[in-house]
Amino acid sequence: MSEEKAKLQLDDQIIELPVYSGTEGERAIDVTRLHDEYGLITFDPSLANTAICRSEITYIDGEKGILRYRGIPLEQFDRAKPNFIEVAWLLIFGRLPNKTELNDFRNLLCEHELLHEGLRNQFQVLPAKAPPMAILSAMISMMACYYEEFLAYNDEQLLFEAAARLISKVRTIAAFTYRRSEGLPFIYPDPGLRYCANFLHMMFSLPYRQFEVTTEMEDALNLILILHADHEQNCSTNAVRVVGSTHANLFASCSAGVSALWGPLHGGANVKVMEMLEGIYHGGMKPQDCIEAAKDRTNPFRLFGFGHRVYKNYDPRAKILKASCDRVFANLKTSDPLLAIARELEERALQDNYFIERKLYPNVDFYSGILLRAMGIPTDMFTVIFAIGRLPGWIAQWKEQHDNPATKIIRPRQIYVGNSTTNYVDLNDRN
Ligand code: CMC
Repeated sequence: MSEEKAKLQLDDQIIELPVYSGTEGERAIDVTRLHDEYGLITFDPSLANTAICRSEITYIDGEKGILRYRGIPLEQFDRAKPNFIEVAWLLIFGRLPNKTELNDFRNLLCEHELLHEGLRNQFQVLPAKAPPMAILSAMISMMACYYEEFLAYNDEQLLFEAAARLISKVRTIAAFTYRRSEGLPFIYPDPGLRYCANFLHMMFSLPYRQFEVTTEMEDALNLILILHADHEQNCSTNAVRVVGSTHANLFASCSAGVSALWGPLHGGANVKVMEMLEGIYHGGMKPQDCIEAAKDRTNPFRLFGFGHRVYKNYDPRAKILKASCDRVFANLKTSDPLLAIARELEERALQDNYFIERKLYPNVDFYSGILLRAMGIPTDMFTVIFAIGRLPGWIAQWKEQHDNPATKIIRPRQIYVGNSTTNYVDLNDRN
C-alpha cells in the first residue's frame, strides 16, 4: 500500500486521503473515511468514476483498447483457441488449469448437464413465446430450489460444484427455451460433445436426425463465449456483486446479473444492433439516416453497438469479432448483406465528427450478432448467448468478493433533494 496522499481542501480544512495504485499504475483516492471522520460524502452518479473494489480478475485499458483476463491479453485467446471451459476455470480460480483439473471440470460439467425434472417441467407453465432472458433469469434463480446444498458457500470445493452446475445447465436451459418457443421437442445433452457443440446439438438436432456441427460454427461460438467471459465491473457484474454482498447465494446473484444484462444499453444491445441492421436492409432507413438519427439530440435513437463507458478506443473484442466474421463467411463461402451494412455504418461513423469527438467506436455487440446469425441462432437468443459467456466472469467476481474478508454490504449514499420536514395532511383536508 502506498504512502502517497491526496489533499482535499474544503473551506479552511485540509483533508489528507490515501492514494492507491493498481498493478498497471492507475491511481485511486481512498474516500472510505470521509463520512465517518469528516461528515462528507462523494457524489458520483452511475459510479462512473468510482472503483468499488480491488480485483485481480480482468484488466481493461479503455484508452488503449486493452483487455486481459488474469493478465493474459485477449488476442492470445484468439490465437491459442482454448476451450471456453478452460477460460472459465482461469477466471474463477485465477490460473490456467492443468490437464487433470481441466478433465475433472469437463467431467463435472457432463455429469450435470441435465436439468432436474422439476426445473424442466417449469417450461410447460411458461408462455412459449416468453422473453428468453426472463426465462433464464427465473430458471437460474429457481436452481436455488433444487440445489439447496449450495446456498451456504463456505469452501472452494462447494463453489467448484455450484459453478459447474451453473455453467453446464445454463446451456441446457438456453437451448430448451429456444426449443419450446419453436414448439420443438427438447433434445437432451450429449456428453460426448464439447461445450459449444453440445449447445448447438441441443438447439438444432431433431430426435431422428443429429445436427451436424461444423468446426467453423463450434470455433466461432467458442470464441464469442470467450470474448464475453468477463469485463470487470460492468453493469451486470456490479448487479451480481451488489446482490452477493448481502451474502445471497450464487444462484440469486447470477440471476440478478442476467436481469441487468437484459437491458438494451448493456447485453441487450446485440438485439438492437440486429434490428437496426435489418431495418436498413429491409429499406426503412439508409445507413446515413441511422448516423443522423443517432446524432440528433432530440431523438432517443442511438447507434447500437457503438460507444462504451470504459473504451475510448476500438473495443478489442469488436476487432476480433469483425475479423472472425470475415473468416467465417470466407470459410462458409457465403455472405450476409447485414455484414456489408455494418461495415458501411462503422466507416461512416468513424469519419463523423460527432463520433470522433465523443470517442465512440464499435463495441462487442456490433459484430457478434452477425456471427450468431450465421450459425442460425435467432435474434432473441443473442443476449442469452452473452449471458452464457459472461457466467464464468460473474462467478469469478462473486467468489473474489466472497473470499475477501474486508467485503461489506454494498450500500451507497445519496444527496437528498426532496422536501424538508412537511406535515401529514388528513385525507379529508387535502385539495
Ligand atoms: N449513439 C449515439 N450517441 C452516443 C452513443 C451511441 N451509441 N453512445 C454514446 N453516445 C453519446 C451520448 O449521447 C453522449 O453525448 P453528449 O456528450 O453529447 O451528451 C456521449 O456520447 C457520451 O455517452 P454517454 O451515454 O454519457 O456514455 P455512457 O458511458 O453513459 O454510456 C453506453 C455508454 C454503452 C451505454 C452508450 O455508449 C450507449 O448507449 N451505446 C449504445 C448501446 C450499446 O451498444 N451498448 C453496449 C455496450 S458494450 C457491451 C456491454 O457492456 O453490454
